[in-house]
Amino acid sequence: MKQISLFLTLLLLSSTLFSQTQPADIFIIPQPVLLKKNQGYYSLPRNVVIQAPDIPGIAHTISVLRDKLSGAAGFHVVKTSHSTSSTIKLYLNESFNEKLGNEGYELSVSHAGVLLKANKPAGLFYGVQSLIQLFPPEIESKEHVSTVKWVLPFVEITDFPKLGWRGLMFDVARHFFTKDEVKQYIDAMVRYKYNVLHLHLTDDEGWRIEIKGFPKLTEVGAWNVKRVGEFGDFIPPGADEPRNYGGFYTQEDIKELVQYAKERFVNILPEIDVPGHSLAAIASYPELSCTPEAVNYKVRSGEKIMDWSGGAPPKALLDNTLCPANEKVYSFMDSVITQLAELFPFDYIHLGGDEAPINYWQNNSQIKALMAREGIKKITEVQGYFTRRVEKIVESKGKKMMAWDEVLEGGVSPTTAVMSWRGMKYGIEAANDGHEVVMSPTTYAYLDYMQSDQISEPRVYASLRLSKSYEFEPVPADVDPKYIKGGQANLWTEQVYNIRQAEYMTWPRGLAIAESVWSPSGNKNWPEFFSRVEQHFKRFDFSETKYAPAVYDPIFKAGKTTDNKLTVDLNTEIDGLDIYYSFDNSFPDRFYPKYMTTLIVPIDAKQLKVITYKDKVPVGRMITMPIAELKKRAKLQ
Ligand code: ACM
Repeated sequence: MKQISLFLTLLLLSSTLFSQTQPADIFIIPQPVLLKKNQGYYSLPRNVVIQAPDIPGIAHTISVLRDKLSGAAGFHVVKTSHSTSSTIKLYLNESFNEKLGNEGYELSVSHAGVLLKANKPAGLFYGVQSLIQLFPPEIESKEHVSTVKWVLPFVEITDFPKLGWRGLMFDVARHFFTKDEVKQYIDAMVRYKYNVLHLHLTDDEGWRIEIKGFPKLTEVGAWNVKRVGEFGDFIPPGADEPRNYGGFYTQEDIKELVQYAKERFVNILPEIDVPGHSLAAIASYPELSCTPEAVNYKVRSGEKIMDWSGGAPPKALLDNTLCPANEKVYSFMDSVITQLAELFPFDYIHLGGDEAPINYWQNNSQIKALMAREGIKKITEVQGYFTRRVEKIVESKGKKMMAWDEVLEGGVSPTTAVMSWRGMKYGIEAANDGHEVVMSPTTYAYLDYMQSDQISEPRVYASLRLSKSYEFEPVPADVDPKYIKGGQANLWTEQVYNIRQAEYMTWPRGLAIAESVWSPSGNKNWPEFFSRVEQHFKRFDFSETKYAPAVYDPIFKAGKTTDNKLTVDLNTEIDGLDIYYSFDNSFPDRFYPKYMTTLIVPIDAKQLKVITYKDKVPVGRMITMPIAELKKRAKLQ
């Protein structure tokens, strides 16, 4: 034990030293545990020989490497399993190296070429991701790039993850994303060593997975009326509007996705969100509801169905809950869970549990009878009864149940794994009570939140800037770390209408979360991290992945002088930016006034336009801030 802690101390110490002196041409994300740059570069020969063992689970790793080297870089690549004078050697350790675990690797680039060692195929896969990041960004190009010198810096890397659960959640219920789009999302996430894809498969706006024996779930439940604009306030669709927007995955599609993910060392966590968020299921099978009017319910497009003005739980304007007092609900859940258990090899099944309203249950005679029969004293405990019953079903299929942190409120069994989303607090509470926990707090990890000022982002109810995401520490100091399985970022898609926007919302914040769940916390350094992020912006450009440049947008702070003149302060998340502005409605560039200190807004101005530059190059977007908006914020209106 002593030896291990001495080793870890030395490791942390040395990794801090190395990360501070990390040379300007190595930009790996997430930051490796140990990285030692040596003098010099390895120039690959035109004929690249990849030597790798013929073992299961390695084929995709080789093909990623082969595709990059023969595609963008234009090398002639051959793969061999024989011991030979290889350029790149992938080696599976004969005896298990404890330090590396199942996912770690050692990567060395020297005069002798590239040597990558790991205990398991997953480690080789992650080592290859780091190796690709050692190449110039053009390696990500879909076309051959002839203008680049394909060299690798001499380096020694020892790397392994901090946490075993490194997740991204993709909400394919609010908007449907095709099987190919989900694959595209997986391809992007594995570059940053994520290993869990949580698919939010059902919600009020859609049921996205075929369940045999319940055909209406996908005939009715997968389709709504297409609306665009600001989700939540859409005009309720008329009876004659076509319900042709949506889609679902057949069970064959799911098998294909599971296999695709597996080849990339990703587990798919399926989520069926119950008992709340269930309107799509209820519109398909109204008998699953306690409310007779449910026969008239339709799958939601984004019209108002909840009133949050009184706080949580929300007051439902229509009943989107499965009825905990109805035995049919449990046989339905049994069928669903049985099929999920067969389709998804992952140990966990997520059964939602968030934001379930109780106002329809309060006056319902079936619920009252259930409470009397089961001795349930409070209406808030009805959900606990439901949760315990569905957990028994999950366990009977040999799986573990995971749910959002609200389930802690209704009395939950200690075997339920908890996903903490309403901050870290409930995750800490759950871990202290012996639950397994995955931290995915809104505070740091909600990818649906706006990335900069609401005037320049699609409107959502909250903001989360990159620098804040980078502060995510999934293992709090005051809990036993053995209960914290990992961390996860969540992409809800109410306002995300297509895969380009899904990418925009995920990157770069997904880089910050990737580093938070993989790299040792002691190594974190925001300016240094951001210098690596900027290199990955180039990689995203070459890989044609969309990302948000919002980090370059200024932060506006409206105020007022003692004599009630409107003032504005501008700030940036990162150092080294120059902000140029105008109040005369014209488009500023770097020959306009540069922001130096608090501005007093001219009396008749209508707009403040700003743009940020770095080293004379525009990096930010042209942002137009209405003066009326600033006045509102300064309470001058
Ligand atoms: C959630 O964000 N409702 C889990």
